[in-house]
Amino acid sequence: MGSPEDQAFGLLSEYANGFMVSQVLFAACDLGVFDLLAQAPEPLGAAAVAARLGTSGHGTELLLDACASLRLLAVETQAGQAAYANTALSAAYLVSASPTSQLDMLRYLGRTTYLCWAHLAEAVRQGRNQYGQAFGVPSGDLFAAVYRSEGERLRFMRALQDVWRVHGRRLMATFDLSTFPVICDLGGDFFKDPLPEADLYILARVLHDWTDQACSQLLARVHQACRAGGGVLVVESLLDSDGRGPLPTQLYSLNMLVQTEGRERTPAQYHALLAAAGFRDIQDGGTRGLYDAILARK
Ligand SMILES: C[S@@+](CC[C@H](N)C(=O)[O-])C[C@H]1O[C@@H](n2cnc3c(N)ncnc32)[C@H](O)[C@@H]1O
Repeated sequence: MGSPEDQAFGLLSEYANGFMVSQVLFAACDLGVFDLLAQAPEPLGAAAVAARLGTSGHGTELLLDACASLRLLAVETQAGQAAYANTALSAAYLVSASPTSQLDMLRYLGRTTYLCWAHLAEAVRQGRNQYGQAFGVPSGDLFAAVYRSEGERLRFMRALQDVWRVHGRRLMATFDLSTFPVICDLGGDFFKDPLPEADLYILARVLHDWTDQACSQLLARVHQACRAGGGVLVVESLLDSDGRGPLPTQLYSLNMLVQTEGRERTPAQYHALLAAAGFRDIQDGGTRGLYDAILARK
């Protein structure tokens, strides 16, 4: 244990260098390090990895050793030579063939989200998203800014699916939904298009994109379309009741600032929006995971 000053400086360095850790992860995924090691019959040395990826020997060795320190790779030394293999973490989440692969999410974070976060101070100053600064597109029309090209739209959709591969099953088991014969998972232009008739509407990671005013408008539309006795299931990352935690959700809320028109909210804030739209019997899922569900009835 160092002095309090040492500890404080250590923490500062960890925060200041945090982006380098993200970039090691993004670069190793982009280059195909984890897929290569998953396919190799045995651990590979840096020279073999570099030869198969077509990368520099020097850069590859540095990257692999950084991955090993981050526990993204396991390293064993034989006759003075390091050989690298995937860890349980990388085999589960960083290999394309894994059913829980997060590669598309990491690609989206590295190529889109990261560039918007470079303008966080400006986002805080202006109180709005940074597609203009990051990509030179007007940020007034959120749909047009998020889906700038077909490639970007697909990358975003695939990234979203990665998260449900990990959290979806548990979240959908939060409430007994068997009493709702027809369930509609809302997407697309739900502010304008007629909503299909259903007993339950799912709004997953939708309300956090929008201002309170837009949320109220959307929830009123859902309430109107909903059959009597039906309901709405809101799935979001929830802030603590005082808004001062947990840190991942606070960071997501800042992410909503740099990428959308919305914010993350507390359960009470979602309850108020749902009640104002006419919903009642509002129940919290209480899973305390990264995402949680709130069920409300018409
Ligand atoms: C963050 S995605 C969530 C998708 C899905 N429910 C999930 O959890 O993976 C937001 C959804 O809002 C829809 N949407 C409607 N209007 C939008 C707009 N102006 N900008 C971005 N997304 C919009 C998108 O089609 C998309 O389905």
